[in-house]
Amino acid sequence: MTYIPKIWIIIFLLSLFLLVFYMSQIEWTKTSELPQKSTAVHSARENSSNEKDTILLIWFWPFNRKFDLNSCESKFNIKNCQLTDDRRLYSSADGVLIHHRDIARDLSNLPKLPRPFFQKWIWMLFESPQNSLRLPGLDNLFNVTMNYRQGADIVIREQLQLKPQETEEPLKNKSRKVCWIVSNLNGNLARVKYFNELNKHIAVEGFGNHFHRRISREQYTQTIESCKFYLSFENTHERSDHTTIDYITAKTFDPLRLGAVPVVLGPPRHSYEKFIPKDSFIHVDDFNSPKELADYLHMLDQNEDKYQQFFSWKKHFRVIMVNWPVEHACRACQYIRNKKSFQVFTNLNKWYWG
Ligand SMILES: *[C@@H]1O[C@H](CO)[C@@H](O)[C@H](O)[C@H]1NC(C)=O
Ligand SMILES: *[C@@H]1O[C@H](CO)[C@@H](O)[C@H](O)[C@H]1NC(C)=O
Ligand SMILES: *[C@@H]1O[C@H](CO)[C@@H](O)[C@H](O)[C@H]1NC(C)=O
Repeated sequence: MTYIPKIWIIIFLLSLFLLVFYMSQIEWTKTSELPQKSTAVHSARENSSNEKDTILLIWFWPFNRKFDLNSCESKFNIKNCQLTDDRRLYSSADGVLIHHRDIARDLSNLPKLPRPFFQKWIWMLFESPQNSLRLPGLDNLFNVTMNYRQGADIVIREQLQLKPQETEEPLKNKSRKVCWIVSNLNGNLARVKYFNELNKHIAVEGFGNHFHRRISREQYTQTIESCKFYLSFENTHERSDHTTIDYITAKTFDPLRLGAVPVVLGPPRHSYEKFIPKDSFIHVDDFNSPKELADYLHMLDQNEDKYQQFFSWKKHFRVIMVNWPVEHACRACQYIRNKKSFQVFTNLNKWYWG
């Protein structure tokens, strides 16, 4: 056995120790200080709990309305959804949200790259068929539909929801009888004719651009609260035909929420009755003429008990509004995340336009 002096063993061990220490420092610097190359998508996809985010690509900002892409969790408690408007992520997107009203007539602005096998295209529309073009080529193109109508894969609409317990909701004092807020009117619509006739028999207080009385968002709320009745006239050309079915919008739910009785024109009464109590609103179809309706409104104006009966639903239900369009994007992502089955919407044009 060769003799090695103690001092050499000590020096050897010391340098070994220093070397190991030095290497571990290099490792540490590498992982912590190198620039983070991975994007949010990358890290989400490699989540250690094996729970990767669902990516929803917003192909068009609906009517160019932008919103915060990071609010699904904070606003709607929808987790693991990543919204993006970055078209470079097309090939990894689980869903592509496509707003019908922004599609070019010849479909030329739709995605051109092949659709990945896992990806679903979501057709989104919240305008009535009357106000939306029927485009050839939409059948067998989309996987999922999102609309206010029953029968869509994702139905989103304002609604009344049961309260956890009964509460009284006192109405604000009313300084006005009949009100209407309109930004623009197209002269040949049914609602204009009806309004002109009604206004001869009961004074309607008009607000908005059309009446040269612009109001702010806050004034909008206060104005409706101050009215006994509100004209919830939908923007439709004819009344009560197939193409207006279930098209009941915030024009009706805002007065319900704010304590004015909606006087509705649009879909037929039975359509409204699917979504709101039959004694919570007045339908123009219930009267033979605008004059008859005006007489009825005059009568209610003089009879507080009868008027108050329109609000008995408020004890048990409250109005849930929809947050356009961020809620729609989050719900679309949630749907894609939960529903993994193969699906194609084969007859979109017939289903929507009849
Ligand atoms: C990974 O998924 C878990 C569970 O859904 C989540 O709590 C966590 O924030 C995710 N981590 C990353 C880096 O996305
Ligand atoms: C509503 O009107 C009544 C009677 O005129 C009055 O006593 C009450 O203070 C008013 N309430 C509000 C909220 O303005
Ligand atoms: C989506 O629809 C397209 C078009 O019909 C179809 O080719 C594709 O397989 C569908 N994808 C899924 C995931 O359902």
